[in-house]
Amino acid sequence: MRRLLLYLSLASLLAVMAILTAAAPPPAGMDLPSYTADGKLKRPAGFRNWVFAGASLGLSYAEVSNQAPPGRMHNVYLQPEAYQHYLKTGAFPEKTMFALVLYEPRQKESISKHGYFSGKLSAVEIAVKDSERFEEGWAYFDFGAETKEAAEPFPKDRCFACHHQNGQVDNVFVQFYPTLRDQRK
Ligand code: HEC
Repeated sequence: MRRLLLYLSLASLLAVMAILTAAAPPPAGMDLPSYTADGKLKRPAGFRNWVFAGASLGLSYAEVSNQAPPGRMHNVYLQPEAYQHYLKTGAFPEKTMFALVLYEPRQKESISKHGYFSGKLSAVEIAVKDSERFEEGWAYFDFGAETKEAAEPFPKDRCFACHHQNGQVDNVFVQFYPTLRDQRK
């Protein structure tokens, strides 16, 4: 009898732990990732309406940058519902997507005499948290300059490894995005 009670309490403890550690389901109304029959991610249509997480300029992880200074402009966005969930809980729900939108810098046009503004679009990259589909939880895609309608996930060592090792929260570079880094109380 005692042993049965012990097993029962162990089982309920494990069940509670599973609930606590499982990623939250996607909040209602959120843009969800959509895939082709052969497993490619379709380019999310609405990423320009998402919440702006942060910008960087010429940020590079190559030892020697192959870009002329100042490098490209990087703008990062995530779905508004994923953003609200992060502010409340500190975690990203399932089906969170981030868009990294890269522009070539331009200068000295119109009235601008100093500094840089965003020129030509050079790439749209997407990160997706989808544990049902990807063993590691997150997968990474490149849609070129919006030239591709659908993209295959990159192999783990191309993108996931660095994000997993260096991203501050759950593969995401929160340390570089002020709206995530500084807004969560
Ligand atoms: C060596 C490290 C490294 C590798 C490899 C890497 N990234 Fe990133 N990634 C970063 C850093 C640093 C940022 C921070 C934002 C920036 O670049 O402006 C970032 C940000 C991102 C973001 C925005 C969301 C987030 O997770 O912070 C996306 C989307 C992204 N990368 C896609 C990719 C794709 C696609 C690949 C593979 C082709 C890739 N990354 C490979 C370092 C890396």
